Amino acid sequence: MGLKPRAAFTLNEIPFVPTPQPVVEKMLQLAAVKPDEVVYDLGAGDGRVVFTAVNKFSAKGVAVELDPWRADLIREKVIRQDLKEKVMVRQEDLFQTPLKNADVVTLYLLPEANRLLSKKLLVELPDNARVVAHNYPIPELRAKEILHVKCDGRLHTLYLYQPKTLKRF
Ligand SMILES: C[S@@+](CC[C@H](N)C(=O)[O-])C[C@H]1O[C@@H](n2cnc3c(N)ncnc32)[C@H](O)[C@@H]1O
Repeated sequence: MGLKPRAAFTLNEIPFVPTPQPVVEKMLQLAAVKPDEVVYDLGAGDGRVVFTAVNKFSAKGVAVELDPWRADLIREKVIRQDLKEKVMVRQEDLFQTPLKNADVVTLYLLPEANRLLSKKLLVELPDNARVVAHNYPIPELRAKEILHVKCDGRLHTLYLYQPKTLKRF
């Protein structure tokens, strides 16, 4: 029997561990983010992925973060950087977030959460949407590209998916 996605389970299980900034940039490059595309970071932490998407790739960002304290910190940054038109903050369980408007989805979760998300990605994402997962693959999907990035002596593995065009194994 599979585990059902439960917010409490994932928030306890998935702590805030930020992706190093150079790796964030590689993730967005790997997804080939274009101006005005919409980048969703599911489990946004301090919002660095969406702020980078907006400030360096001229995209729009949706930061989905369950932790209310972290979501508020992201909202404060949005106001300070005057990005209200470019960044939306959703304080909610990422399993409940509608994804039909996403061009790119970024993930730095855990293997079980990625597994639970795979069907949602397949069903909800538009045809050309890309997904980049940091360090943990999405077990049900076939990666289009895998990139290894060395940063501060650590190896980071990035997995690129295009769920609608490259489906299951
Ligand atoms: C490993 S951090 C990644 C942060 C950011 N995406 C990055 O790459 O720097 C995972 C984040 O997911 C959040 N999180 C955990 N479970 C969640 C859920 N069910 N819905 C939304 N956010 C969640 C945590 O609070 C944490 O901030």
